[in-house]
Amino acid sequence: MIVHVERVLTPDQVALCRHKLSAASWIDGRATAGEQSARAKRNLQVPEESEVARELGELILGSLGRNPAFVSAALPLRVFPPLFNRYDAGHAFDTHVDNAIRFSGPVRFRTDVSCTLFLTDPGDYDGGELIVEDAYGEHAIKLPAGDLIVYPASSLHRVAPITRGSRWSSFFWAQSMVRSDERRTLLHDLDTTIQALSVKVGQGDRQVVALAGTYNNLLRMWAEV
Ligand code: NI
Repeated sequence: MIVHVERVLTPDQVALCRHKLSAASWIDGRATAGEQSARAKRNLQVPEESEVARELGELILGSLGRNPAFVSAALPLRVFPPLFNRYDAGHAFDTHVDNAIRFSGPVRFRTDVSCTLFLTDPGDYDGGELIVEDAYGEHAIKLPAGDLIVYPASSLHRVAPITRGSRWSSFFWAQSMVRSDERRTLLHDLDTTIQALSVKVGQGDRQVVALAGTYNNLLRMWAEV
């Protein structure tokens, strides 16, 4: 399931991120790539342990924790500290799959969900689409600054070459309470339907309450916490 989460950051927060990142030191993006993806990757990153990554990462995680659309789509158990990358003209990331297990200091976790938070307005660069493959084909994603895409970490994906400008973004992974993308998709569909229905008929409606019960009971059956 690929889910677009709108306005994770406000325009002011995006401007703050860009301001801080413009003063950051950028290193070769292969520092965080696995063996296979290092060959495919041409971009720049802010070092994981840097102060700016930590500070902006906290800002992003704070916004995400209050964002019902993200929580519904990812059902996060743990979110990896956000990283920051940039693709200048000529940069790209060829087709790859993200590593299944990552370390954040001593903490090891499974990447179920991949996230990209766009920090550059689409009009400011050409190329640079995130292209995610699933059973229905390829999806080219380029979102307004401040918006987030959530997609299964198990999917093949790439970043198309940049032909003009520079694309900045934050990227990170979540270990989900629900490992299976198929189950997360069912839960997300059910949740969004219940939300829409409760606007029409009221939260106290008997059938809305029953469906909310079904949602919770499926989550109870599938969640690892
Ligand atoms: Ni990737």
